[in-house]
Amino acid sequence: MKRIAIWMAVCGLGCMSCGEGQQPTRPAVLPAGSASEQPAEPAKTWKIGMSQCNLGEPWRVQMNADVRNAAEQHANIVIIFKDAQNDSLKQKSQVEEFISSGVDLIIISPKEAAPLTKPVADAYDKGIPVIVLDRRVIGDKYTCFIGADNKKIGKAAGKWIAEKLGGKGNLVELKGLMTSTPGQDRHSGFRQGIEGTDLKILFEADMKWLEPEARKEMESALARFEEIDLVYAHNDPGAHGAYLAAKAAGRTEDILFVGIDGLPHEGQIYVKQGILEASFEYPTGGKEAIELALDVLNGKSVEKEVTLSSRVFTQENVDSGGQWLANE
Ligand code: FRU
Repeated sequence: MKRIAIWMAVCGLGCMSCGEGQQPTRPAVLPAGSASEQPAEPAKTWKIGMSQCNLGEPWRVQMNADVRNAAEQHANIVIIFKDAQNDSLKQKSQVEEFISSGVDLIIISPKEAAPLTKPVADAYDKGIPVIVLDRRVIGDKYTCFIGADNKKIGKAAGKWIAEKLGGKGNLVELKGLMTSTPGQDRHSGFRQGIEGTDLKILFEADMKWLEPEARKEMESALARFEEIDLVYAHNDPGAHGAYLAAKAAGRTEDILFVGIDGLPHEGQIYVKQGILEASFEYPTGGKEAIELALDVLNGKSVEKEVTLSSRVFTQENVDSGGQWLANE
């Protein structure tokens, strides 16, 4: 709560400053002979490099759209978008290219923590501010991290599932890429959430955030286990992949599916259609990244960590906007 309040304060300041502190896009024309007849300073255009780890999932397309829409509100920002196509090495080179081309600030949503830590730290050490979005790097050599609390989401999912199943049942856990921090946190948080219940994890696998992988893993789970009550997948594409596998096996009647992301045009639709029992929102942080970038570029100090809030969408509440996760 405290962190969110701080964030709102930072955002409020940022929004005000965009109007006040911004340079005009064209120099003001002064009347000839006026006392202060000096050439107006040319407007500074900020060049921001944005490295997106992939654009294969709707959630990432949405993140870029959120960044773009927020940036379009400011005439003095130019964004250079790069898609790393789910390749950490490619993403590393993208950050290096941004450094050598002299961008004013970098926004990165890294594929994996370890391989992207050094390039981000190098940019930061060279004085280029770096905003890390959604997936973390290791250590603290970056300007600011923005994301929702994945441990909290995982734990809330665990508690919700325990309640839904009356504290007992057989589960499948389809994990996001375990070399990325949201996968690790959605897993550990979930295990905390189901602690002390009689829920059993029959099968777990890393589906790397990918729907086809999730479908394949679920086919194995279905072949091995006759009684599966619920699938907890670390994202909605994963939950949907599992659903498709169960559908092909004629087993959707017995199994419930829960995912994370809760996009209006993905997870929320699946919930409305009865494909998912619940989807936990994972905001992209794209808009907040641009607001924060402007604060940094205008010389304001910003919080090192910005935590975004999350909701759960269920069949009961999806039409009325979901339910915010409680603070702990
Ligand atoms: C997209 C995605 C989302 C997930 C996020 C975690 O690549 O897998 O579905 O919530 O990344 O970083």
